[in-house]
Amino acid sequence: MSPNTEFIPFARPDISEAEVEAVQRVLRSGWLTTASETAAFEREFAAAAGVPHAMAVNSATSGLHLALEALAVGPGDRVVLSPYTFTSTAEVIRYLGADPLFVDVDPCTRNLCPDQLAETLTREATPRGRAKQRGHARQRGRVAAVIAVHIAGAPCDMTAIIAIARQYGIPVVEDAAHSLPWPPEGPPVGTEGEIGVYSFYATKPIAVGEGGMVVTRDDQTAQRVRLMRLHGIDRDVWNRYHSSTPSWQYDVVEAGYKYNLPDTAAAIGRVQLARSAELREARARIAARYRDRITAAGIVGQAGVELPVDDPRHSHHLFILSVGDGATPTQRDMMITRLTELGIGTSVHYRPLHLMTYYRSRYRLTPNDFPHALAAYHRALSLPLYSGLNESMVERISDAVIDAHRASMQDG
Ligand SMILES: Cc1ncc(COP(=O)(O)O)c(C=O)c1O
Repeated sequence: MSPNTEFIPFARPDISEAEVEAVQRVLRSGWLTTASETAAFEREFAAAAGVPHAMAVNSATSGLHLALEALAVGPGDRVVLSPYTFTSTAEVIRYLGADPLFVDVDPCTRNLCPDQLAETLTREATPRGRAKQRGHARQRGRVAAVIAVHIAGAPCDMTAIIAIARQYGIPVVEDAAHSLPWPPEGPPVGTEGEIGVYSFYATKPIAVGEGGMVVTRDDQTAQRVRLMRLHGIDRDVWNRYHSSTPSWQYDVVEAGYKYNLPDTAAAIGRVQLARSAELREARARIAARYRDRITAAGIVGQAGVELPVDDPRHSHHLFILSVGDGATPTQRDMMITRLTELGIGTSVHYRPLHLMTYYRSRYRLTPNDFPHALAAYHRALSLPLYSGLNESMVERISDAVIDAHRASMQDG
C-alpha cells in the first residue's frame, strides 16, 4: 500500500519507552494491584491540579458513580446534565436510583447551556433557604446535583454554572473525561466544581487503558470516595499487607465497590502525566494546522462548515467539525463515507442520549426536546487528533475534508 492511501486511524495512544519501562518496573516489583505507584500517581495528579485530594479509580464511569454517591444522590432524586454526552454521565445517575434531568446545550460549545440551566432550576428546584419545593418540583423529587461535561475538552462556563447552582444549594460535578491535558493557563479544567472526574481510557490524551481520577477540595467527600472505591473496607490493600497489623484485621463499614486502579495502570499514568505538556502541544499544533488549512480552503462559514471553539484552556482531546445545516445528518454522513474511502478514520461525538432507546423510551423523549443537541449531533464530525499524526498526515486529512465537503455539496 502506498503511504498516501494507508488508513489513518481515528485515535492512537502515545506510548513511549518510558511508559513501557514503568510497567516493567511494577511487574518486577512483586506487587501488581493498588499500592505505592497509585499513591504516587494520586499525589502527582493532586499537585498538578492544585487540589488537596485526588483518588485514582478504574474508570471515569466509576469515578462519576462515586462522586454522586458521595453527594448522597439517591432514589427519587434528579441530576441535571445535558444529553450531549457519553452514556456514562447518565448511567451512574440510574445506578443510584435517581433520574436524569436533561438540559439543552450551547450550540457553539456543545456544553451545558447556563441560560437553559437557570430556566430549568427556576422551574424544577427550590432556591437555597426556601423550605419547600412547590408543585411539580415537590412531586418529582429534589434536584440533587448538576453534572457539567466539558465536551471535546472545551471548558464549560463554570463561573456561570456554579453561580446558578449555588442559588439552589446544588453541588456541581465536572465530567472532565475530556479535559486532559491541561494547558498552562487558568485553573485546571475540572477543579472548579465540588468534584471533578477524569478519564484515562485508551483513546484519551492521557491514557492508561482503563482508569480515572476523582478530585475534590472537600475532606469528607474524599474520605467517602476512598472508602467506597474499595468495598467499604476501613483499610486499603497496601496498608493491609504492609503494616504490622495483620492483613485480616479490617472492618467492612459500608457495602462499597471494587473501583481501585492497579499499580500497573498507575505507572503508565505517572509517565503520561509527566509528559502532558508535550502531549498537549502536539495536539494543539495539529488542531491549529486543521484550522489554517480548512479556513484557507474558503469553506468555513457560509459553506456550512464551522470550526470548533478556539479556547486557550481547550485540552484538544477532540477536534469536532460542524458540517451541514443541522436539520438532517445527510451532509455529515456523506462526508464520513467519502473520508472512509480516502482512508481517514473519523467518529461522531455524540449521538445525544435523548435519541438512545433507553433514555428515549424511559423518559418519553422526542428528538426536538433538545433542538440544539440534535442539530449539533447532525453536524458533528470528529477528525483524528493525536501526537502520532505527522505533517503529511495532517495535510492529507485536511485535503480529504475539503474534498469530501466539495463532493457533499455537489451530491447533496
Ligand atoms: C464525556 C465522558 N464521560 C465519561 C466517560 C467515561 O470514561 P471511562 O471510559 O473512563 O469510564 C467518557 C468516556 O469516553 C466520556 O467521553
